[in-house]
Amino acid sequence: MNWPLGVWRWCASAAVAALAVCAPATAHAQDAAAYFQQNCASCHTIGGGRLTGPDLKGVTERRDHAWLLRYLPDPKALIDSGDPIATQLFQEARGVIMPPPPLLTPAMADALISMIEAESKLEKSRFVGIQISDRPFTAQDVARGRSLVRGETAQTGSGPACMSCHTLGGVGALGGGRIGPDLTKVYERLQGRKALAVWLSAPATPMMRSVFGRTPLQAEEILPIVAYLERSAQQGGEDTGVGMVTFLLLGLGGTAVGLLAFDGAWRNRFRAVRGPLVEEAGFGRGRARGGNQ
Ligand code: HEC
Ligand code: HEC
Repeated sequence: MNWPLGVWRWCASAAVAALAVCAPATAHAQDAAAYFQQNCASCHTIGGGRLTGPDLKGVTERRDHAWLLRYLPDPKALIDSGDPIATQLFQEARGVIMPPPPLLTPAMADALISMIEAESKLEKSRFVGIQISDRPFTAQDVARGRSLVRGETAQTGSGPACMSCHTLGGVGALGGGRIGPDLTKVYERLQGRKALAVWLSAPATPMMRSVFGRTPLQAEEILPIVAYLERSAQQGGEDTGVGMVTFLLLGLGGTAVGLLAFDGAWRNRFRAVRGPLVEEAGFGRGRARGGNQ
């Protein structure tokens, strides 16, 4: 908090001559929104309800500025120090600790707080989070989700098929990828429908962010994908055997020749997609940066 204040004092004294130098301080509002989208929106909405972390609408009224500035860069340190508010928040979050945001300068922390305050006053913040319908999932949703995950149906953003990097249920047998974690139980791990949907709309991890940052999944795709992941978690990965065979037969008109052709086509696509993708996604670079997982 010291240095932004210092900057302002300096700006004031240097008056008109310093205008050009002081201007970037206001440009921060934009940067803060972009930073929030990348690093905070997967866990927090502003006015859209709780995800992994609390809804931040009005947080600047609940907490004072100095506390927020101490909390943001290193939430765990504050919990460890026995701070009562941080401890209570941590308990309400069922033991999930907010990770320290990457490359958070004091100036950015300050800009974030102002941005959250301004967004809280709007009737509808742009950070209410993705609004997917609450209607019960249907069998069609599950089928469409399965098809999207496997790359049978292309995504509107032309992002790569999830299966080129992930396994799910028994799909490892077909050559599901090993770059990303197994998704069979991810519906439970990422705490259900709403949190998973928001996570997918703004993935917070390095690889997922570099793959889907520019071509994000759309709400009409996220709903069926979440439906499929819910089903998969319920079945606990038993979606192999009959389900798999039925899927193959349906997709291929039930001929054995088709089956073989499919297997080959799948492997080709898998190879074609995965190599360049990994490079493009900057696998090494993402890891080196450490992300905010
Ligand atoms: C991985 C999920 C996650 C990410 C990413 C995350 N937070 Fe949090 N945040 C939490 C959780 C969980 C809590 C509740 C405290 C705890 O358990 O550590 C929290 C608490 C907070 C609080 C206190 C809320 C209150 O009611 O007092 C603020 C403010 C906050 N986060 C802001 C941010 C900002 C700004 C970012 C991005 C720079 C961010 N968080 C990124 C999970 C996250
Ligand atoms: C280019 C490879 C790649 C593609 C394509 C991909 N993922 Fe991922 N995914 C990863 C990696 C690697 C991780 C681990 C975290 C990270 O580094 O981003 C991950 C993590 C995840 C997670 C979090 C898992 C957890 O246990 O926390 C989810 C959910 C997820 N991916 C869903 C999807 C979905 C849905 C698709 C398709 C729309 C998809 N991914 C496509 C590589 C990929």
